[in-house]
Amino acid sequence: MSVPTIRRATPEDAEALSRIGAETFTETFGHLYPPQDLADFLVYAYNPERTRADLADPAKASWIVEADGAVVGYALAGPCDLPHEEVTPACGELKRLYLLKRLQGDGTGSRLLAETFAWLERDGPRRLWIGVWSENHGAQRLYGRLGFEKVGEYVFPVGQTRDREFILRRG
Ligand SMILES: CC(C)(COP(=O)(O)OP(=O)(O)OC[C@H]1O[C@@H](n2cnc3c(N)ncnc32)[C@H](O)[C@@H]1OP(=O)(O)O)[C@@H](O)C(=O)NCCC(=O)NCCS
Repeated sequence: MSVPTIRRATPEDAEALSRIGAETFTETFGHLYPPQDLADFLVYAYNPERTRADLADPAKASWIVEADGAVVGYALAGPCDLPHEEVTPACGELKRLYLLKRLQGDGTGSRLLAETFAWLERDGPRRLWIGVWSENHGAQRLYGRLGFEKVGEYVFPVGQTRDREFILRRG
């Protein structure tokens, strides 16, 4: 397989981004939820209208990862929406970061993170935030190595299921 490439997504990528979003969420976390909760969440979180709105928002940016002509991952960043009392309008957030399983563990996620943080900090150092599932120890290790620390928790709804999420911050 060729080395995956990373590029900024454009409005033309809305359908592809919605598809890879639903596919990677299902592959990574789908087994954790009753089918109806998963189905409801996929429609809510990855519908093309929502993706198009993200792509049209100049305060947000999306990236697409491609390998051998196929979309295999993506990232989304923008202003921080996490429920923590110290979040301000100046804060940035890594909102989504996903690769298909067969691409994981090969450095692509770290490259994608570097692109995302470079964009978030394009005007200089900035306080950055990430929400991560409490049991996602792999991602927490990765973010920890990059200087992120747990500063809070919140509850994230997936259909009727309620996930425990950690709030991480750097800076
Ligand atoms: C998180 C993710 C984007 C990292 O990309 P990657 O290319 O696999 O990561 P890299 O090869 O650059 O770095 C390896 C590190 O990523 C983390 N990682 C590896 N596989 C992972 C997985 N399946 N899930 C979460 N984190 C993982 C680990 O910290 C690993 O370091 P370690 O081997 O020392 O433990 C990718 O693994 C992924 O898409 N995982 C599933 C979705 C996910 O958990 N997204 C984060 C939501 S907040």
